[in-house]
Amino acid sequence: MKVKAPGYMCQACGAVQPKWSGRCDECGAWNSLIEEARGLPAGAGARRSSKGRIFALETLLATANDPARRVTGIAEFDRVTGGGVVPASALLLGGDPGVGKSTLLLQVAASFVNSGRRAVYISGEEALPQLRLRAVRMGLADAPLQLGAATCVEDILATLAAGPAPEIVVIDSIQTIWSSALDAAPGTITQVRTATHDLVRYAKTSDAAVILIGHVTKDGQIAGPKAVEHLVDAVLYFEGERAHQFRILRAVKNRFGATDEIGVFEMTGAGLAEVPNPSALFLGDRSATSAGAAVFAGMEGTRPLLCEVQALAAATGYGTARRAVVGWDPGRLAMVLAVLEARGGVGISASDVYLNVAGGLKIAEPAADLAAAAALISAFTGRPLPKDCVIFGEIALSGDIRPAPFADSRLREAAKLGFSLAFVPAGARISAAPLELTQIRNVAHLASLLANA
Ligand code: TYD
Ligand code: MG
Repeated sequence: MKVKAPGYMCQACGAVQPKWSGRCDECGAWNSLIEEARGLPAGAGARRSSKGRIFALETLLATANDPARRVTGIAEFDRVTGGGVVPASALLLGGDPGVGKSTLLLQVAASFVNSGRRAVYISGEEALPQLRLRAVRMGLADAPLQLGAATCVEDILATLAAGPAPEIVVIDSIQTIWSSALDAAPGTITQVRTATHDLVRYAKTSDAAVILIGHVTKDGQIAGPKAVEHLVDAVLYFEGERAHQFRILRAVKNRFGATDEIGVFEMTGAGLAEVPNPSALFLGDRSATSAGAAVFAGMEGTRPLLCEVQALAAATGYGTARRAVVGWDPGRLAMVLAVLEARGGVGISASDVYLNVAGGLKIAEPAADLAAAAALISAFTGRPLPKDCVIFGEIALSGDIRPAPFADSRLREAAKLGFSLAFVPAGARISAAPLELTQIRNVAHLASLLANA
């Protein structure tokens, strides 16, 4: 017997309300309640069988060996997953619509089958001729990939069980998959969770690595990847500005590896190209002599990544000074401006300030403070920074510069790309400097250095 509890489910947080309202009481999201009859499991709440089944308990040691990875051959993807996908696991790839998720996974699956392995690609969004057309454009048409266009999870599981067991299964996308056991519309949180649950169970009971695509949705009308993150073993996000050609693959959860790796791709006319040396890409069209531009020697996971931080300071036209930031935390900018004013004697806070990380990259590292400060001082004074100089270091509220981790990797990358000078925090532990170092003690020191540059 299927028990129905009528109710309205918030598509943002999954809370169930007995009656509709414009705003979810739990999470405060607006216009997110949709009528969904919850199908409870048959016999839920009914009498339980009196005895459970006994299962064997095991030691940690017995399962200590690392699971055999399935290397797909797309090196940037393999790196982010921690060395390839793991058998009997489920992975979620989230991202904005149109960022290139289908393209990436088609390439991953095609590369995998081209090495003689077996993969299945199920699309619920595109018809087979569309998929083929895309594959032809990307030069993958002769990959022996098994394609299917289906949206019913029962059909998908029956098909997968009928054929030879695939090693990788791609489901594009989880929002289009629905279970006939429920009468909620596809894309609602109940359907997405149920379909994900069924596919994850398939992964665990078979040997397949199941990769689910999930669209990130902004309006909360359709259940997004957040609703199923806890069900899967690994969550990757594919990010990038649509106006820029490069894309970053980032792990936010990984039961089988680190989450601090990124993969960098470039969207081309023939699919995604791997970018083994991202710094060169982000610094590609740098104009080294203009004021307000500083090169930040950053880290993404264990990889050094150089990028340009650009600042502009202009006289305020209205009463309040305007601040606009792209690619960095606005709160961090406010802090750096305040420290420059209070500790560095740079009277910038009355100016309009714009800060931009070139190329559409987003920086989250505190070590970017010093590069941003240098760009701001340079923009304010109109003096360009020294040529071929990279900068990193965290700024404390006292104005002191704190050391940042991985100083050696940052400097090696800078030297590799032809930089000859680095502004580093005083007291940074550096074993062998491949370029000339200037140790910065505090923001006042930085300001006086740049004034005399
Ligand atoms: P797609 O993989 O369909 O995005 P998603 O599955 O995340 O919604 O990629 C969509 C965009 O990528 C599309 O707007 C066009 C662009 N694109 C290229 O520029 N080159 C290509 O070779 C392909 C296949 C797509
Ligand atoms: Mg797609």
